[in-house]
Amino acid sequence: MVAERVRHIEISGIRRMFEAAPPNAINLGLGEPDFDPPREVIDALCEAVRHGMNHYGPSAGLSELRDAIVDRYRDRSPATSRENVIVTGSGSEGLMTTALALLDAGDELLVPNPGFVLYGPHARMAGATPVPYSLRAEHRYLPDLDELEQLVTPRTRAIVVNSPSNPTGAVFPRATVDRLVAFADRHDLTIVSDEVYEEIVYDGPATSFWGHSDRVVVVNSFSKTLAMTGWRIGFLLAPRSLAVELNKVHYHIMACPSTPAQAAVLAGLRLGNGWRNRMVREFRARRALVLHQLGTIPGLSVVPPAGAFYMFPRFSWARSALEVATELLSRGVITTPGDAFGSLGAAHLRLSFAASRGDLRKGLGILRHYAFELEEGRDG
Ligand SMILES: Cc1ncc(COP(=O)(O)O)c(C=O)c1O
Repeated sequence: MVAERVRHIEISGIRRMFEAAPPNAINLGLGEPDFDPPREVIDALCEAVRHGMNHYGPSAGLSELRDAIVDRYRDRSPATSRENVIVTGSGSEGLMTTALALLDAGDELLVPNPGFVLYGPHARMAGATPVPYSLRAEHRYLPDLDELEQLVTPRTRAIVVNSPSNPTGAVFPRATVDRLVAFADRHDLTIVSDEVYEEIVYDGPATSFWGHSDRVVVVNSFSKTLAMTGWRIGFLLAPRSLAVELNKVHYHIMACPSTPAQAAVLAGLRLGNGWRNRMVREFRARRALVLHQLGTIPGLSVVPPAGAFYMFPRFSWARSALEVATELLSRGVITTPGDAFGSLGAAHLRLSFAASRGDLRKGLGILRHYAFELEEGRDG
């Protein structure tokens, strides 16, 4: 009754934790900023719908918005133009569009392990095979180029990279970007660079792949940077000829992105960086708070995240990530088991610091208590 390619796709492990949560649980599982979009952006959305922007628009997006996006990328590649930009109905749609445009049945796609939950299923829905590459704490969750060389086959078409990363928070140093570009060139691969957390960084800017390779598709989104995950709006950047092909798929998926949401995003881009900088400042303070608290919890080690709003501590307890997350859930705190992001997320938890400082203190207090119980059990 249902197509083979759909039968093996599971609902994400992140969603399952939420469904099992007791009422009033402290939520350290959120994958979105705990803020509302800027007031000016909300006003612009209301204005747009009141003033008739309720109809289909161009499939690649409104020209004004595409131009505003170009302005953001000109410093990275002066030749960037409107023809490189497709406004999408979210980063998720951009990723699916890219998978369908790049992959044929039987092709292989290199995907990060641990990595964001959509990459593998999107490859499968395109009839291709996801091939995981490792991100390990020992390498500060950066790709191992030697391993990548071993994984390439004649069927490998593309590699997905994600910096800043969900779930690890790792941000690629410039040298890693250069090495990945050289690797992709050597093997004739397209780089699919998921940069949705690009602007949420703590130790200096992230290096975009745009402008470093002419075989790259950049996937970006306004979900996180303007705190509008529910509005479903993002964009793709690609070389012109590839953008034409991507736009065909995008058109057949959704005709066009939301017209009023585009007007609102345009207002958001015109605000400059002040609002975003304030949000990042708050995340930076919370990052310090969480790192400090984690440092007092036995059995945990963490590589400090340089971007996004997740901690990815590793634990040394003889339990699965799901057992730990389930036991924490029964004590009133929602976390995400690390292996929801791939096999190498085993023995990790993902903690989101898109939660109030009060909730972070309480949630980490519960985690500390739990850790001490386990450690005492170990001694006894
Ligand atoms: C790494 C990464 N890429 C893409 C997305 C998709 O974002 P959206 O579809 O809201 O634009 C997310 C959302 O959590 C993410 O974490």
